[in-house]
Amino acid sequence: MSLNRVIGADGAIPWHLPEDFKWFKRLTTGHFVLMGRKTFESIGKPLPNRTNIIVTRRPRRLAREERFAPAFIGNWRPRLARSYQLGLTLMTDRDVWLVRDVDKLATAYEQVRPQRELFIVGGAQIYRRLLPRCSELFLTVVFREVEGDAFFPEFEDEFELIDVLLRTADFEVRHYRRITTPAAGSVRATC
Ligand SMILES: NC(=O)c1ccc[n+]([C@@H]2O[C@H](COP(=O)([O-])OP(=O)(O)OC[C@H]3O[C@@H](n4cnc5c(N)ncnc54)[C@H](OP(=O)(O)O)[C@@H]3O)[C@@H](O)[C@H]2O)c1
Repeated sequence: MSLNRVIGADGAIPWHLPEDFKWFKRLTTGHFVLMGRKTFESIGKPLPNRTNIIVTRRPRRLAREERFAPAFIGNWRPRLARSYQLGLTLMTDRDVWLVRDVDKLATAYEQVRPQRELFIVGGAQIYRRLLPRCSELFLTVVFREVEGDAFFPEFEDEFELIDVLLRTADFEVRHYRRITTPAAGSVRATC
């Protein structure tokens, strides 16, 4: 986020920091990345080498749209009983999932605790919804004020800073840990 808490403007991130992208890639590769439908659309394609979980209230309608065509995200697979229990509505053979019930998914993740981490990667609606369930937060703070329409939620009373993992002239990556009891479980957020 910027110094005035902005994370997005007009559906995009209002800065370009390749070093931060590299850091984000290193942190999340091999893991689950969960994002809101609008964030997925702003990225435009699945993040490679990660399970992309896209949250939407209308998965079946989205699955019929051009940008969710097999050429971009893989072929839709038949729904399995197990995936249904996880709140998964649709998934592809390229490991892209469309999920309607985000709480069900987070709860299932906590119960199963797979080897791979679940990273909540935005945007504003999804951070607001799931930050209460996060045990850790990796936050890039960009050293400027920018105009925008998507903001990172207040978290300062619930997390403590434990380290600064990367610092450049333009930004730093802060690692926070929750000091209050999470709403449930231990997913991670990175912004
Ligand atoms: N700086 C950063 O690190 C960073 C990271 C990520 C995103 N961003 C920016 O953030 C902005 C997007 O954030 P946003 O808040 O507008 O959108 P968002 O959180 O990415 O996505 C919102 C969408 O998620 C779905 N959704 C939200 N809550 C849901 C729930 N409880 N159950 C099921 N589906 C739910 C809905 O999709 P449907 O409408 O399909 O139902 C909703 O329209 C963009 O500007 C993006 O560039 C910045």
